[in-house]
Amino acid sequence: MRAGAATPVLAGPEPRLRLALRYLSHYRGRYAIGFAAILGASLVVMLPPIVLRDAIDALNLGVEGGPAPTMGTLIWYGLVIVGLAMIEGFLRFAARLLVSGTSRDLEYELRNDLAAHQMTLDRTFYLRSQTGDLMARCTNDLQTVRDLLGPTLIDLARILTMLIAGFFFLLTVNTRLALISYAYLPIVAIVIGAFGKQVEERYGRVQEQFGALSARVQENISGMRTIKAYAQEENETAAFGVANREMMRRSMSWAYWTAGLFPLMTLATGASVILVLWFGGADVLRGDITLGQFVQFNSYLLILSNPLLALGWNITVLQQGAASLKRISEVLSARPLIADPDVPVVLEQVKGEIVLRGVTFGYGADVVLREVDLTIPAGTTIALVGVTGAGKTSLVELLVRMYDPTDGEILLDGIDIRRLSLSQLRDSIGFVPQETFLFSDMLSDNIAFGRPGSSDEAVRYALATSQLENDIPQFTHGLATVIGERGVTLSGGQKQRAALARAVIKDPPVLILDDALSHVDTHTEEEILRRLSEFMRSRTTIIVAHRTTTLASADVVVVLDDGRIVETGTHAELLAREGMYSRFFLRQQLVEELVEDLPA
Ligand code: CTP
Ligand code: MG
Repeated sequence: MRAGAATPVLAGPEPRLRLALRYLSHYRGRYAIGFAAILGASLVVMLPPIVLRDAIDALNLGVEGGPAPTMGTLIWYGLVIVGLAMIEGFLRFAARLLVSGTSRDLEYELRNDLAAHQMTLDRTFYLRSQTGDLMARCTNDLQTVRDLLGPTLIDLARILTMLIAGFFFLLTVNTRLALISYAYLPIVAIVIGAFGKQVEERYGRVQEQFGALSARVQENISGMRTIKAYAQEENETAAFGVANREMMRRSMSWAYWTAGLFPLMTLATGASVILVLWFGGADVLRGDITLGQFVQFNSYLLILSNPLLALGWNITVLQQGAASLKRISEVLSARPLIADPDVPVVLEQVKGEIVLRGVTFGYGADVVLREVDLTIPAGTTIALVGVTGAGKTSLVELLVRMYDPTDGEILLDGIDIRRLSLSQLRDSIGFVPQETFLFSDMLSDNIAFGRPGSSDEAVRYALATSQLENDIPQFTHGLATVIGERGVTLSGGQKQRAALARAVIKDPPVLILDDALSHVDTHTEEEILRRLSEFMRSRTTIIVAHRTTTLASADVVVVLDDGRIVETGTHAELLAREGMYSRFFLRQQLVEELVEDLPA
């Protein structure tokens, strides 16, 4: 699950065409061969009408009393036409196969890049995005882009080369007729342009709603427990219905425009046939062109009606691909705010001294931490206390650079943490977050997540320290038990202890526990703390906690209130001061005594 190399940071979404060309250029050889084959096919398809013209003119000569062609000659004409059709078919088949196959390689590469890029993005990006929508971009939009850069591209090349080649072949027959039959093309181009714009806009809205719908499905599935607990199934189903109806409405408005193009193109080709019959027929009667030439000309129109009809459809697919490409480009161009410095400072050995200087921070306009100054000498244990919403989690998350402070600086061993590489910083800190996340994987893999391939001994030590070892026999396959998504098959306390074991096994110089034992009973917590105290002896430890035993055992207690440090000192000092901490502590003591007195 390591992040790939950071994608170059771009200002604003990369233009779609540039993005497409960047990927296409990786396969330019294969695309070039494919286009050459398509060009060949478009030229070969123009040859049978010439053979047909010669055959008809030869017959006509016979009809008018001249030398009649022999049966052998006629069969020869036929064979040439069949041969040409076979060559054309083969070239088209080869081009399609090559380019469609290549678009799968391109899709594979783009999907890998998307996944690697998402690993580089930070919390701020994910706070702004919805999981379902991101997933839609990586699946649905990616497929649309693949179809654009595969079959659609090859079709567009076929259409364009045929229309151009066709015009030249028409010119060889009769300039005036050629100009007449292509006269309406500018109008067609304008109409297609207008339709295409509508299609792109509407398809963009369809995909946007699909993203919203996916986000809803994703939230409903992960929030199913809450929905059921509050008996909100019907409301949620109704709300989904509304979003789904909107999806249908947008799809229909898109479908009207794509459906309209086809009949319009049929009309346009029909009109050109009428014009050519009218003017060309007169030319034949006047003897300006031969009957064979007239048939040749009409054969071209027949051949060209196919790409013209396909043009409309392919333009719509092109516009849809463009809309999807934009959505993918938005993800690929998102830049992480938290990134490695160009030249990171490397600490030989992290001792674990942490200093905050004038740290101010807020998620949006609201300030959550104000001018926080704090020095934590290496190897000490500090307890961070404060009411809910005081900013404790925000403070510890700044230490691992989930976010950067808006003002002030944070130093690790005297170095601003923004000058360290993210991997060194995060490797140095064992962070047990307030919300535990476990992967749907084996318990042992979850614990060794930060240190894959840890020795059995290390695993056992982590299990003992976190007191998870006593629970292992409960699991069907012990440590090899695969736990449910996000750890749903574990109890709250088991999840927290697994997360603690995950941090302990990293053997980090700094340990941060953000309310990490809140779901563990008092006795187990005491046992964990007793075992941890040995582990913490040589390490810097920050514990966000409520329990009196934890608070009393810390070297220093720091009280946070509304984003400010209001009291700092040893447990005894702060008790004696009879300020916020002593009130907090005494109240907590009462609560714990009450709980102790309750019958088991
Ligand atoms: N906050 C926010 N956006 C976030 C996380 C938090 O605006 N993504 C705000 C919260 O609403 C709160 C403040 O930041 O007002 C501090 O939050 P936090 O640091 O999480 O508070 P804690 O002290 O950790 O509170 P608790 O004891 O409940 O964990
Ligand atoms: Mg918190």
